Amino acid sequence: MTDQEFKKPSGTRDIFDREGDYFQKIEDTSRRIAGEYNFKTIRTPILEEKRLFVRSVGERTDIVQKEMYELTTKGGDELVLRPEGTAPIVRSYIENDLYKKPQPVKFYYFGPFFRYERPQKGRYRQFHQFGLEILGKKSPALDGQLILIFWKIFKSLQIETSVKINNLGCEGCRREYVEDLKKALKPHKESLCKNCKERFDKNTLRILDCKEEKCREVIETMPQIVDYLCKACKKNFKRVLEFLNKMELPYELDPFLVRGLDYYNNTTFEFFAEGWGFALGGGGRYDGLVEALGGRKTPACGGAVGVERTVEVMKDKNIEVKNKPKKVFLAQLGDSAKKKAFELFEEFRKEGIPVYESMGRDSLKSQMSRADKLGAEYTLILGRQECIKNQIIIREMKSGKQETVSLDEVVEEIKKRI
Ligand code: HAM
Repeated sequence: MTDQEFKKPSGTRDIFDREGDYFQKIEDTSRRIAGEYNFKTIRTPILEEKRLFVRSVGERTDIVQKEMYELTTKGGDELVLRPEGTAPIVRSYIENDLYKKPQPVKFYYFGPFFRYERPQKGRYRQFHQFGLEILGKKSPALDGQLILIFWKIFKSLQIETSVKINNLGCEGCRREYVEDLKKALKPHKESLCKNCKERFDKNTLRILDCKEEKCREVIETMPQIVDYLCKACKKNFKRVLEFLNKMELPYELDPFLVRGLDYYNNTTFEFFAEGWGFALGGGGRYDGLVEALGGRKTPACGGAVGVERTVEVMKDKNIEVKNKPKKVFLAQLGDSAKKKAFELFEEFRKEGIPVYESMGRDSLKSQMSRADKLGAEYTLILGRQECIKNQIIIREMKSGKQETVSLDEVVEEIKKRI
């Protein structure tokens, strides 16, 4: 590396070349699959009011206490670089009266998020998420569908994932559980890590999320929330699992999966790739959030995938990504062929297929060498004979294999190959 004056801020990255190809592949795949399930795109501002995340993600969470990039504008507004995407979408749902639309409203997003964390593999200060949010309808099938869509996205990226799933109950079951959890934890308080000692009084549930070995040993012996679920929550959980069974989607119950954000109730889930310690994505239901942010009572659920982490897994597995469309070159020989070539070029353009040409050149040899230099996968050759027969030659440049097809079919034929 040169000894240069300016460097990118710690925990941020320049994304280009192979890394860029992976990003593009993930973005294209997730947008495509979300679209197939009728999700619509949403883009919210990078800057939001700080209060929005204090109220939603939770005052005592790591994100709000330690990780937000905060700034005060010249006008005195306290803003932050968004640390996550759910609260902004709920804000937008309320602000734009989206409850008036047919429900549920289904959104997907892809963009940068910011958390001031200690940079390490899979953990950056600026990172990207692909997320899905469904607002306005409660049904166990929607929780199941969300999990299914993320699973399909990973599968389509050739990543085999396992899903961990839990149910945090409603406020009622959680209150009772937290009381008992506190009682059970109390005798072990001194053996917990410093953070968990601090969490004990005001954020007991979050102790279950601690990754420290000594805390994990204690956590494994603790009561489990599934045993505290009320009748309605139990039924809901059972139906989500039934849906996953029906879809033949493999999952694992994790009674201690609470996630690092406060807004969840009922279903929570996380995705893992074998051999990787961090979650590739996660989410759950947040039925109280719209109301907590000033809207009407609205059920909702969602989830998000970390793009950098997904790229890391893909790179490690050497998964091939080909984002570049195959190049097609159109060569012509003779006056009438040139005229036809112009028409054909327009036909390809109308279909949105970019075709390279070199109409200024007359010799086939020089056109073929141009096609070679461009790295064209296919060259279409329109000579005098072909013109008369209303045909064209498709030459596969790598193998040199040629075949003749009808001029009327060549656009469709090329569509199949690129
Ligand atoms: P989250 O679990 O905080 O959830 O983040 C989702 C994913 O973003 C993580 O699983 C991880 O892959 C990635 N991620 C988080 N922090 C970093 C980081 N510092 N560096 C790299 N990747 C990171 C949420 O953000 C929720 N909003 C998800 C959700 C949507 N829940 C409901 N709807």
